[in-house]
Amino acid sequence: MFKRIVSPILDRLDSETWHNRARELLHLSEISPFTLKLLELFAYKGKRIFNERLKVKIEDIEFDNPLVVGAGWDKVGRAVKALYRLGFAGVEVGTVLQYPQPGNAKPRQFVLAPGVALNRLGFNSPGMNIVANNLKRYKNGSAVVGVSIGKNKNVPKKDAPKAHSAVIKKLYKYAAFFVINVSSPNTPGLRQLQDKAPLAKIVKAINRAMDKVGKRKPLFVKIAPDLTNSAVDDVIEVVIENKLTGIVATNTTNNSDIKAKYGEKWRNQMVGISGNDKDFRQMATDKIAYIYKKTRGRIKIIGVGGVNDTKSALEKIMSGASLLQIVTGIRGEGTSLPGKINQGILDYLDKKGIENVERIVGIRAKKLH
Ligand SMILES: Cc1cc2nc3c(=O)[nH]c(=O)nc-3n(C[C@H](O)[C@H](O)[C@H](O)COP(=O)(O)O)c2cc1C
Repeated sequence: MFKRIVSPILDRLDSETWHNRARELLHLSEISPFTLKLLELFAYKGKRIFNERLKVKIEDIEFDNPLVVGAGWDKVGRAVKALYRLGFAGVEVGTVLQYPQPGNAKPRQFVLAPGVALNRLGFNSPGMNIVANNLKRYKNGSAVVGVSIGKNKNVPKKDAPKAHSAVIKKLYKYAAFFVINVSSPNTPGLRQLQDKAPLAKIVKAINRAMDKVGKRKPLFVKIAPDLTNSAVDDVIEVVIENKLTGIVATNTTNNSDIKAKYGEKWRNQMVGISGNDKDFRQMATDKIAYIYKKTRGRIKIIGVGGVNDTKSALEKIMSGASLLQIVTGIRGEGTSLPGKINQGILDYLDKKGIENVERIVGIRAKKLH
């Protein structure tokens, strides 16, 4: 029903407007246990799936299942409980910046083809104080809250470590894990922070900030799918040298040929493509497999990019991702998506006689080794 009736209606609305309305509707459902129960009727077969075999542990965080809502879906942290109720194990809120920032001029978010999105949001964020206030209500809840952190556009490269640490300190008590986002294509110069020297400075500053407020929480670096393998090697080195938890692979692509598939006008624009584009999905999966092989599974990988069904989910898990994130697929497939994929994973485990989902992480990458 979603794809035949709801989706074509949504296609007529401005994509960002729809997105914000959907998030606020979910937020409203959090008002009482009854409305949350009603929301659950929109989950796959009307019921959230709980199953021990889907559990994933990363350091001391327990995820109910391997599916998390990726950064960008709930930038402000207002629909965490509702998204959990629909079947996700948690939400990566953000990207959150130290100060409020409006982002680029609208329109800046588009649906290009069924399940394929383009955005040039440019880090719109209400700032860390508002997000901290929003996240209070999810403390000690069942959903795992991660926070993606970034820097305001006007912060020069040399001050990036300080800007990231400020967000860490403010949101430390509300997040189970953090992700450094230096891979958005929509902020000029941001992706240069993926280079070894500036990235190491940010990471060290964050580690110091966490040491000051408590113990170190799991920390990831999110990379662009457009990085060369040698640039990925640099990120891996920073991750290992500074004892981070792992890498989120990947952000949206700004590959010119992929952009141009949806119109020549996009070729040279600063935008990011996400979702159901087979070349983008493959780029993200290749990065996961590369990191897994290179590190022999020693660091954790969160896989993201074009996950929209069981097959695309299994592909990324088997390539080395312990956890998956979805953003564009939620718009394309609807509220039943997490349940559908989780059930699909369970069916696969049954068919193959495999105990749990953690057993299949990286099995395809190992074979290629
Ligand atoms: C509208 C939109 C906004 C996004 N905002 C962010 C963001 O703020 N921070 C971030 O790290 N990634 C952001 N992303 C990237 C996603 O988290 C994800 O890496 C990418 O979209 C690929 O996954 P998907 O194919 O499931 O969408 C955004 C993506 C979209 C479509």
